Amino acid sequence: MDDFNALTRLDGKVAVVTGAASGIGRATALRLAAAGAAVLAADLDAAGAAATAAACVSAGGQAQATGGDIRDWSTGEAMAGAAVAELGGLDILVNCAGLFPSGAALDLDEGHWDQLLDVNLKGAMSLSQACARRMRDAGRGGAIVNIASIQGLRPRAGKAAYAASKAGLIALTQVLAQELAAHGVRVNALAPGPVLTEAAVEAGGSATGAATAAAYLARLPLGRFGSPEEIAVAVQFLASPAAAWITGATLAIDGGALLI
Ligand SMILES: NC(=O)c1ccc[n+]([C@@H]2O[C@H](COP(=O)([O-])OP(=O)(O)OC[C@H]3O[C@@H](n4cnc5c(N)ncnc54)[C@H](O)[C@@H]3O)[C@@H](O)[C@H]2O)c1
Repeated sequence: MDDFNALTRLDGKVAVVTGAASGIGRATALRLAAAGAAVLAADLDAAGAAATAAACVSAGGQAQATGGDIRDWSTGEAMAGAAVAELGGLDILVNCAGLFPSGAALDLDEGHWDQLLDVNLKGAMSLSQACARRMRDAGRGGAIVNIASIQGLRPRAGKAAYAASKAGLIALTQVLAQELAAHGVRVNALAPGPVLTEAAVEAGGSATGAATAAAYLARLPLGRFGSPEEIAVAVQFLASPAAAWITGATLAIDGGALLI
């Protein structure tokens, strides 16, 4: 049996990471670059993506950055094309870009719904299609990792658009896993629980939010929030040869939140 560390290396692979300017996407870009992949850090926030790519390079890795709005279907093509043109191939896609805000179903407006579904679900689909076509054509397989949420598995009140987008992303993962297996492309999802990123803190907000958070943490089996890096190591695993027989899976990384 090969050494586990060797099995999780990504040397010679090219990875596209969306949402790479901050939070989980940034940590994932850094992790994959540290594991040997050449990373295209992609984000609506082009300056943030460039800063992530620079951090990957200063840590000794290989990376480029690209800006783009994944609500536009053609952005998937542009990002996949940039990976091939600038980094010489495309083996891994991490769909991490996402928006949090949600609200009670009775108060939702159409713009809010479209915005969330367009980023969290349509964006992941267009990127997956563009990248998977290139993986198929190159004939060397690949891996797609979708960052869903426990809200996609156990939806809560007040999260209509967000939960629907993440449940949709999990369903998409399962469909693509079946369609792409013949091309050697594995497709999996992660379902993080509460991870301490700026976006998550903003979504939780105010003093009421802090009190709610303390009560929540008291019930959470592992008793603390997760870190972006704890999600990033799971992305590395699922993208690596160590996960060669895993496809269509959704792995909850949630401190036990689904058990509450
Ligand atoms: N933090 C958590 O607690 C948590 C829990 C479960 C799931 N998630 C998921 O993890 C992912 C990352 O979350 P995060 O906490 O790191 O948030 P974040 O806000 O730090 O990162 C999201 C990134 O997506 C980018 N983005 C937003 N709209 C975009 C668009 N139209 N085109 C391209 N990029 C766009 C943002 O610029 C940002 O850099 C999201 O999909 C989120 O739903 C987070």
